[in-house]
Amino acid sequence: MDLSYILNELGEDRELYYCAVAPPILQTSNFACRTVDEMREMLRNEAEAYLYTRGNNPTVTMLEKKLAALEGAEHAIAFGSGIAAVSAAVLSQVNAGDHIVCVDKPYGWTNTLMNRFLPRFGVEVTMVDGTDPENYRQAIRPNTKLLYMESPNSFTFELQDIAAIAALAKEQGCSTIIDNSFASPLFQNPIQFGVDLVVHSCTKYIGGHSDTMGGIVCGSRERINKIFEREYMTLGAVLSPHDAWLLLRGLRTLPVRMEHVAETTRKVVAWLEKQDKIAKIFYPFSPSHPQYELARRQMRNNTGQFTIALKTDDIRKIDRFCDSLQHFLMAASWGGHESLIYPAAAYHTPDGKYKSKLAVNLVRFYIGLEEADYLIQDIEQALRMI
Ligand SMILES: Cc1ncc(COP(=O)(O)O)c(C=O)c1O
Repeated sequence: MDLSYILNELGEDRELYYCAVAPPILQTSNFACRTVDEMREMLRNEAEAYLYTRGNNPTVTMLEKKLAALEGAEHAIAFGSGIAAVSAAVLSQVNAGDHIVCVDKPYGWTNTLMNRFLPRFGVEVTMVDGTDPENYRQAIRPNTKLLYMESPNSFTFELQDIAAIAALAKEQGCSTIIDNSFASPLFQNPIQFGVDLVVHSCTKYIGGHSDTMGGIVCGSRERINKIFEREYMTLGAVLSPHDAWLLLRGLRTLPVRMEHVAETTRKVVAWLEKQDKIAKIFYPFSPSHPQYELARRQMRNNTGQFTIALKTDDIRKIDRFCDSLQHFLMAASWGGHESLIYPAAAYHTPDGKYKSKLAVNLVRFYIGLEEADYLIQDIEQALRMI
């Protein structure tokens, strides 16, 4: 399906709302039925009906249709946050007594879901180094139901070979889920590699303005309707119509923003690679990266995240570098207009303890929509401080 069509027309029926260019926000909890028969019909097929906004809402549907199309999926279901989408997708695939193989070092709350939440309900999880699909194979047990990926994964951006792991899952009769937030639906489409469910934190690139939160799960109609009837309706982590509208607005400019971010990031990384105060850059799109070929094979382009390792473990110097940056905000998340850093050193406590598996000299960067020179000059002056 044509990208321009998806972003500008798909799911929009302007005749229904005075030919307004921007879609309406149907800010309603309830939809009235005209007859008992009509209500009966809606209850029979609530997954496809407008009966109650904790089920479906037309503004939210518009977003779901566009995101499903962007991922090449049959259907999609929207949530109030990315982690709500991750949790619902994972819960939909397992029962007590089942086992999951999950990529090591996923997003922090996904890690909590896997290692603290699911074990309370009798689901076991094995975390593996995802850079070699063989590690997934070795971890599979007779009760393994799900192989979970996040590629590239958080902070150090290791890739998993999506096609190889999806093929392994099919061979072993397991399902697959991937968190595709890093790449955005423009730069990587895991369904084409055989993945069953694709999840995004829409809070990131899809929203793109750091002003709203949301999540989406994309997959077959059968799998998505199953999530609707179980996790979605009972846990109730729905996306509000207003947030869906903000995400629709974000989607209109997604290709322009992604291209700009990609180009600026390439320039900033190229400059950083020449700096002698930096020991290493975690960025799969550098030709020297061990997974460069895989990155080129399964992703269409680089995005705005990378991590640097400063050539010092001195916490005062690391703090000074980060505190000296003027144009990078220090914050969680990424994908908005503003450039950000997230230092691992933030896990260092005042009593000298360090509560992270990440090396303390790592600083994660996200490049936003500012110009490359503006950002490079800022990093240059901050590096001079150490
Ligand atoms: C890779 C990844 N997945 C999921 C999430 C969770 O998304 P949200 O914050 O929208 O719940 C995040 C948040 O930072 C993330 O980085």
